[in-house]
Amino acid sequence: MFEGNNLSAADALLEAQKIAFGPVVFQTARLLRDWGVFKLLQDKKTSISVEEISKTLGLSIYTVEILCESGFSMGALKLENEKYSITKIGYFLLIDEMTKVNMDFNHDVNYQGLFYLDEALKNNEPSGLHHTFSKEETIYPILSKLPPKVKKSWFNFDHFYSDAAFKLLIDIMSKKGVKKLLEPGGNTGKWAVSITKASPQTSVTILDHQGQIDVALINAKKNGVEDRVDARAIDLLDHSIDFPKGYDGVWMSQFLDCFSPSDIISILKRSKDALNEDGKVFIVEPFWDRQSHEIGAYCLINTSPYFTALANGTSKMYRAVEFESFVDEAGLKVVEEINGLGFGHTLMICEKK
Ligand SMILES: C[S@@+](CC[C@H](N)C(=O)[O-])C[C@H]1O[C@@H](n2cnc3c(N)ncnc32)[C@H](O)[C@@H]1O
Repeated sequence: MFEGNNLSAADALLEAQKIAFGPVVFQTARLLRDWGVFKLLQDKKTSISVEEISKTLGLSIYTVEILCESGFSMGALKLENEKYSITKIGYFLLIDEMTKVNMDFNHDVNYQGLFYLDEALKNNEPSGLHHTFSKEETIYPILSKLPPKVKKSWFNFDHFYSDAAFKLLIDIMSKKGVKKLLEPGGNTGKWAVSITKASPQTSVTILDHQGQIDVALINAKKNGVEDRVDARAIDLLDHSIDFPKGYDGVWMSQFLDCFSPSDIISILKRSKDALNEDGKVFIVEPFWDRQSHEIGAYCLINTSPYFTALANGTSKMYRAVEFESFVDEAGLKVVEEINGLGFGHTLMICEKK
C-alpha cells in the first residue's frame, strides 16, 4: 500500500511535485468539472480546439488555456494536434459520485480552513473552523447553521458513505430484532427512520445536538414512525452526563470518529451502562486498516485533517486495532466483526466483559 520507494528518482520527483502543486491542480480540476469542460469533451466524443471550447462554453480563450493545460498536466485531458479530449481520469472526475462528493467536501468545507492546520495541530482546536465559519468549540452544534453550500457538501459527504453501508446494515439489524435501541449521534434520523420502518418491533432514542434532533424528528414524522423515534439533546462531550438506561442495543454509526480516544472511551462506558444485561453495542466505522483497496484507505486517512482543522482538533479516522483497545478499556469485548459493508464500513458488535 502507498509504495513510494519502487519509483525511479525522476518519477518520485514528479510525484513530489504533484503534492507540492496539489492545491492548484485541485482547483483547476474542480473548475474543469464545474464550468463544463469535462462534460463538453465527454459528450462530443472527439477532440476539440481551445477556440471551440471557448465559444461553446462562453469562457475566454485565456481561461480555457489555463484550465486545459493544467488538465493536461494532471492526466485528465489529452492534447494532440492542438486539440483536447478527455481521459479516464477526467471521466472519473466528471462522473464518479465518490470523487464528486469528496471534491465538494474538500472545496466547500475544508479548503480555506486547512490553511490553519498547523495552528489546529499545535493547539488541539479546530482553528480552521474558527477562522472561517464559527468560533464554536466544534463544528457539530452549528452543522445546521453552516452556509447552505457548505452544509450541503458536509451532509452529502456524510450520507454518501453511511447510506451505502445502511442498505446492508438494515437487513442485518432487522434480523436481529433489537427492541430498544439508543443512538448517540443519530444526526438527521436517517438510521432511526430506516430501521424503524424495516423493523416494526424496534424503537430508537437519538442523542444529539438540538439542531440535528429538530431535523430528525421532522423526518420521523414525515415517514410515519414518530411513535417509535424519540430524541434527547445532550452534549456527549460532557462525561458527567449519563445516558438513559434500559436499552437492548446502543447503535453508533460513523460517529465515534468525531471524538478523541478519551472521549470515545467515556462514550463507550456510558453506552455499556445504558444496556440491559444481554444488551450489545453496535459500532459502525470505516476503519482504514480494514479497506480492501488503497482507494478507501487513501480517502479515510486524508479525511483526518478535516477533523483536526474543521471539526474539533482532536479526532481522526481510526484503525480497527485502535478501536479494539478502546472497547477493552471501556469494559466491553468484541464478539463479532463484519467487514466490507458499503464502501468499506465495519460493524463491530460488542458485549459487556
Ligand atoms: C458524522 S455524524 C454521524 C451521522 C450518522 N450517525 C451517520 O451514520 O451518518 C456525527 C453526529 O454526532 C453528533 N455529535 C458530534 N459531537 C457531539 C456532541 N458533543 N454532542 C452531541 N452530538 C454530537 C453530530 O451532531 C452528528 O449528528
